[in-house]
Amino acid sequence: MPALVLLGAQWGDEGKGKATDLLGGSVDYVVRYQGGNNAGHTVVVGDQKYALHLLPSGILSPGCTPVIGNGVVVDPSVLLSELSGLNERGVDTSKLLLSGNAHIITPYNVTVDKVTERFLGKRKIGTTGRGIGPTYADKINRVGIRVQDLYDESILTQKVEAALDIKNQVLTKLYNRRAIAVDQVVEELLAYAEKLRPYVSDTVLVLNQALEEDKVVLFEGGQGTLLDIDHGTYPFVTSSNPTAGGACTGAGVGPTKISRVIGILKAYTTRVGAGPFPTELFDEDGEALRRIGGERGVTTGRDRRCGWFDAVIARYATRVNGLTDFFLTKLDVLTGWEQIPVCVAYEIDGKRVEELPYSQTDFHHAKPVYEMLPGWNEDISKAKSFSDLPKNAQAYVKALEEMSGAPISAIGVGPGRDETIEINSFL
Ligand code: GDP
Ligand code: IMO
Ligand code: MG
Repeated sequence: MPALVLLGAQWGDEGKGKATDLLGGSVDYVVRYQGGNNAGHTVVVGDQKYALHLLPSGILSPGCTPVIGNGVVVDPSVLLSELSGLNERGVDTSKLLLSGNAHIITPYNVTVDKVTERFLGKRKIGTTGRGIGPTYADKINRVGIRVQDLYDESILTQKVEAALDIKNQVLTKLYNRRAIAVDQVVEELLAYAEKLRPYVSDTVLVLNQALEEDKVVLFEGGQGTLLDIDHGTYPFVTSSNPTAGGACTGAGVGPTKISRVIGILKAYTTRVGAGPFPTELFDEDGEALRRIGGERGVTTGRDRRCGWFDAVIARYATRVNGLTDFFLTKLDVLTGWEQIPVCVAYEIDGKRVEELPYSQTDFHHAKPVYEMLPGWNEDISKAKSFSDLPKNAQAYVKALEEMSGAPISAIGVGPGRDETIEINSFL
């Protein structure tokens, strides 16, 4: 049976949590493959709302095994408190598998994230301050700490020493901060070791054996395509690969195993943090999208920047991820506009451009070229099938599908599991 990837097609917060949860009941494993607790995935089940940061959204489906893959960066204190928070709400978390090769977000990585942002001043990225970038930097610099290191005190101490050697020089001499003591870090990390031990496993082996046994594996991306370190709006990106290829490296599963790549796509666009955003609105329409869509960050509580749908970005996401399907979310939020502008191309230095420019300078200069689509006033939150939607809402979906380059196989009309119109089955 297939492996499916579900990922953000824009700048994150497209509704990946809801979409994953929807499929969670029909799959055997849900795997996070990159990012960390910079993610905030909302799942609404009945009258219960869950905000998941590090745990795969499949944790809420009893038959599903949640997996944190090798490509994820893990803050142990966040993981443990997320687990105990769910346990208190009656969710069984005992099946969780945590890769021994996943890198640990140490307290000094969080410190470095925050001081670096402060130092950058107005050039800052607007990170979530969770230590994500510095932890991936340590991984690439080969001074990272992995989950498995928690079980060998002498190795752990040597690795923390190696990591802090240069960092303490930078912290004290450049940032005017106090040096971080190796012993203190080692002690704090060792305190997590036994609590995490029941979950630690060879997740690469488990997932590949599961696929050989025809089990269904769903990879749940964090962030989104335009936040990808290679394919996003660099440098205003996160430090991992949310795009489809990231699922292979971040979980140790070969590309031949992946049969479906589902892009989660909001019916308009949002972004948190700094960086270019061609369709961003600074008027009452932007304010209305924020208010009606509840566009406030799940992780940081920051207001999300809001704008109209951008088909150039959607086409780009189709291409770099090899998308087979879209899951269009939050269509209900657009109810009530007489006309809805959709960005179909950019104008850059007086020229019409149909595809995302590879040059950062060009993208910063991109102005949206809008096409106006007729809106609708009917409440669509109870729609169960495509034909239940008003004609103009149907036409909006069809227009987006045409522009975006992959079929829209599901439509979200509300935050709940059942507030979804399924058009083509994902499984
Ligand atoms: P994620 O990070 O991609 O999982 O998305 P977030 O959870 O950060 O943000 C998506 C928000 O939209 C959450 O509050 C969801 O409950 C909500 N949501 C998801 N799908 C829909 C939908 O189709 N309609 C509405 N109104 N809300 C939705
Ligand atoms: P989910 O999974 C939206 C953004 C931050 C910042 C940039 C870098 O909920 O969609 P980082 O802390 O990762 O180094 O910050 O990336 N960012 C997100 N924006 N949704 C997310 O996750 C995000 N995770 C990181 O705001 O601009
Ligand atoms: Mg989110």
